[in-house]
Amino acid sequence: MFSQEELKKRVGTYAADYVEQGMTIGLGTGSTVYWLIQELSQRVQQGLQIQIVPTSRQTQTLANEAGITIVDLNDTNGLMLTIDGADEVDNELNLIKGGGGALLQEKIVAAASKELIIIADGSKCVKKLGAFPLPIEVIPFGWKQVQQKIIGLGCAEVVLRERNGQTFVSDHGHYILDCHFNVIEKPLSLNTSLHDIPGVVETGLFINMADIVIVGTEDGKIELKHA
Ligand code: A5P
Repeated sequence: MFSQEELKKRVGTYAADYVEQGMTIGLGTGSTVYWLIQELSQRVQQGLQIQIVPTSRQTQTLANEAGITIVDLNDTNGLMLTIDGADEVDNELNLIKGGGGALLQEKIVAAASKELIIIADGSKCVKKLGAFPLPIEVIPFGWKQVQQKIIGLGCAEVVLRERNGQTFVSDHGHYILDCHFNVIEKPLSLNTSLHDIPGVVETGLFINMADIVIVGTEDGKIELKHA
């Protein structure tokens, strides 16, 4: 049996093989991507030349420390590849993301990429999305109105995210509502309904975006799931 941290390290390290000389890639956020950054850092020291577009300030800082060149998304012609983590992955490779609060920039970078590869330990794989509270990024003004509308869509509980006793503010100055749907039967139509609410900036539902999910299973094996 491998610990969750060991599995994160395995998939993070494994995913580095998808990054080729000269590529500009999107680099995700979180504790699994942390291991990818460590591996890429070593390969850069050994001569790998890459540029990355970070999906958060956290990743930007880590990439800087790792000696990896950072580029603005506006200075690219789109990206060949983005590698990111996820909070939940279903059998159709639909995702919940945003546990770290970076979902908006993550989705923009993923949408700019030809290919999205997700790295995850096996605990993230589910039959149906929704046990993990769905993060929704909202404009601070009038957020309680948005909260009520999300409850109206059948959400059991909508919690304003806090960190260290303060309201959590995203990299782009928004709030995050953690939405306890428990089970999401129709992710695509829920995503559309959420986007119809004025004040919603982005949702953590990544529908039909992932191309490959690299899963680290409990027994230490790597499983590849293709869309
Ligand atoms: C960041 O906002 C998230 O989307 C992360 O990618 C996701 O929460 C996975 O994070 P871990 O790799 O830390 O579990």
